[in-house]
Amino acid sequence: MEQTIGIGLLGAGTVGGTLVRRLVGESSSIAAKTGLAFDVRRIGVRDATRPRDFEVGAGILTEDTQSVVTDPSVDIVVEVMGGLDPAGDLILTALRAGKPVISANKELIAARGPELISAAAEAGVPFLFEAAVGGGIPIIRPLSETLAGESIDRVLGIVNGTTNYILSQMDDEGAGYADALAEAQRLGFAEPDPTADVSGADAAAKAAILASLAFGTWVGSDDVYYEGITSIDADDIAFAAGFGYRIKLVAVCDRTDAGVNARVHPMLVPEDHPLAGIRGATNAVFIEGPAIDSLLFSGPGAGGDPTATAVLGDVIDAARETLAGAQVAPRIRFGNGHIVPFEEIPTEWYVRLVVDDQPGVLASIASEFGKAGVSIRQVWQEDVDDRASLIIVTHGSLESEQRTAIDSLKGIPEVHDVASVIRVLGPET
Ligand code: HSE
Repeated sequence: MEQTIGIGLLGAGTVGGTLVRRLVGESSSIAAKTGLAFDVRRIGVRDATRPRDFEVGAGILTEDTQSVVTDPSVDIVVEVMGGLDPAGDLILTALRAGKPVISANKELIAARGPELISAAAEAGVPFLFEAAVGGGIPIIRPLSETLAGESIDRVLGIVNGTTNYILSQMDDEGAGYADALAEAQRLGFAEPDPTADVSGADAAAKAAILASLAFGTWVGSDDVYYEGITSIDADDIAFAAGFGYRIKLVAVCDRTDAGVNARVHPMLVPEDHPLAGIRGATNAVFIEGPAIDSLLFSGPGAGGDPTATAVLGDVIDAARETLAGAQVAPRIRFGNGHIVPFEEIPTEWYVRLVVDDQPGVLASIASEFGKAGVSIRQVWQEDVDDRASLIIVTHGSLESEQRTAIDSLKGIPEVHDVASVIRVLGPET
C-alpha cells in the first residue's frame, strides 16, 4: 500500500522547481519503485507572486518560510534556498521538531555542519545532503556509508563546473580567461556574478564537506585555503599542455600521520591522470585508499535535473526511515583529528618568470630556490624579444618554503615579472 509523505520545500529556484515538477510528473514511477507517494504541501519563497514553471494548488506557495517547517502536514523538509540565513535556523527548527531535513546547501553545511548533524542526531531523524557536492554525482553517501570502512588517504575533486568549463574552453580554443568567462555566461554555465565560482569559494565549501566525510575529522570552510582561476593565463594553459599537463581547479583533501588538510587551487594535472580528462562543466571526485586503490566518480555537478535526482534520492531515503518509525542513528561522526596548516603541506610548483636573458640570471634564481630549501626539478626557457620566459618546476617542498623562494625572486633586478605560480599534481605530492 502506498504511503503519502508531506513535503515542505524551502526555495523554488532551478532545483526546487525541478523537484516539484518531478514529484508530480514522475509520481507513478516513484511509487512503483518505492511504494511511496509524495505531496508537496508548502513551498517557502522570497516572492510568492513571481511566475513559476510549475503548478501547485492555492496557498502552497508562501513567503512565510517559518510556516513551512512548523506546518504539521509537512513530514520532510527540503532546503534548496541556499545561503546561511535564514536557511540554517529554519533547518534547526525543523530538526528539533523531529522532521527529517534534506539540504543541497554546501555553504551552510561547510559552515555549520556539526551543529546541524548533532541536532539531527538528538532528534533521531535524518539530515541528508547528497546534492551539496557534485550535483548529480552520488558522493556523499559513498563517502559516509559505503566507504566508511576504508582509511581514505586522499580525495581530489573537480567540484566546480563553471571553472572547469572556463579552463576547458581556454585549453580547447586557446581563449583568454575573460573571453572564456563571457562565453560561459552566454551559455548559462556561469552566473552573471561568477565570483563564488571563479574565486574558488564554492569549491572550498565542497572541499570542506568532502574532507570531513572522508577523514571523520570536521574541516569547516574557514579551515580551507582557496585560490581561484582569475589569474590563469592562456600562455600557462599552452605551456602546460606542451609539457603534458592540463590546468584544473582542484580540491585536494589529504590525510597523513600529521593530520588532515583541505585546499582548493589551480593545479597542473598530468594528462594521464583521470582528472585531466574531465572536460567542460563535468565534475569528478577521485578517491584514494589502501584497500580500494582509487575510485573515480564523475558526472554533472550542477543543473536542475541532476541535482534534483540527488535530492529525490535523499527524500526517498528519509521517507523510508520515517515510515520505519525508528530513531535514526547518526550516519556521520567527527573525531578530534588535527588540521595541518597549508604552509606545512608539501607542494610542487610551476613558476613562470619573465627575466633578462643574460649570464648569471638563472644562477641567481636557482640560488634563491636553494636558500629557501626548494629543489628544482626542471627548467625550460623560451626567448621573447630581448627577454626570456623561464619556466621552473620544483620538487616537493613545504608550501611555506615555496612561498619564501617566490618572495625572494621578486628582489632580483633581472626578474621583471613572476608571471604565474601554479601548484603541480606531481610525483611527490
Ligand atoms: N556553481 C556551481 C558550479 C554549482 O559551477 O559547479 C553549484 O555549486
